[in-house]
Amino acid sequence: MARIVAGIGSSHVPAIGAAIDNNKTEEPYWKRVFSGFEKSQAWMRETKPDVAIIVYNDHASAFSVDLIPTFALGCAAEFPPADEGWGPRPVPVVKGHPALASHIAQSVILDEFDLTICNKMEVDHGMTVPMNLLFGKVDKSSHWPCPVIPLAVNVVMYPPPTGHRCYMLGKALRKAVESYPENLKVVIFGTGGLSHQISGPRAGLINAKWDKAFLDNLSKAPQKLAKIPHVEYMREAGAEGIEMVMWLIMRGALDDKVDEVYRFYTVPASNTAVGHIILENRRRAKGAAGRQASGRKSKPAAAKHKRAAARATPTTVRGR
Ligand SMILES: [Fe+2]
Repeated sequence: MARIVAGIGSSHVPAIGAAIDNNKTEEPYWKRVFSGFEKSQAWMRETKPDVAIIVYNDHASAFSVDLIPTFALGCAAEFPPADEGWGPRPVPVVKGHPALASHIAQSVILDEFDLTICNKMEVDHGMTVPMNLLFGKVDKSSHWPCPVIPLAVNVVMYPPPTGHRCYMLGKALRKAVESYPENLKVVIFGTGGLSHQISGPRAGLINAKWDKAFLDNLSKAPQKLAKIPHVEYMREAGAEGIEMVMWLIMRGALDDKVDEVYRFYTVPASNTAVGHIILENRRRAKGAAGRQASGRKSKPAAAKHKRAAARATPTTVRGR
């Protein structure tokens, strides 16, 4: 059976992509940002997912005001890079996982979440920047380390989906993944945010206090976040802070109780707050506990296994 082992929250600031593409990551301004993802890349190398589901929003690259799907699932075999502003990033074509994506579409739609199925779709910085932050820089002639299933969410044109709808979609995604028969290790990304507003009288707004409370609740009390109305995101986190509802899809796909293994927050990058978190489903680290429950391992043996698992995980340092 396929299983979701962890969720990753990450900003997808386009200027981060430009810094990577123009070899500016060692400049002091950018080093502050990129150094916060070094442990994350080590975690990703160790985790070695078979597939990543990446929840992001399109920025007028694949869609436009002519066509605004609320939830669009990428079921294609590959997704070419495209972008606004700086143009297509020099990154490899993203390979998809059509079999799992089609299975997810069937399961989630029959669960009454009406996804738009995309058999052809370009992907922009909303997806490729978090991929770089977690997988590292990948040469255009090379390839990303695992297939990706894009899930684009409309957070650009009113009305975006509610946080609660996103949270419940995460749960449906998890059910879909866990009903896929192949033994696949899956991670899920929620991207965007954190607080930022890019135009209008409040341009440049950043609310670090609200962002940190969001991250705390994401980790410990996601049900509270699912109740936040759009207007509160807009008021507290800025007009573009509404992107944060996408993190709730990721969170809904995880266990109710998770282990927060890493967090990073810095201000600013471009004109946004950069937030990042890694949450692991507990049963991954506590496989011994599951075996104990099934009677296959004694208590002392389970505790020993748990300690060994903790030692083997290099990302138990909680960065801020
Ligand atoms: Fe965005």
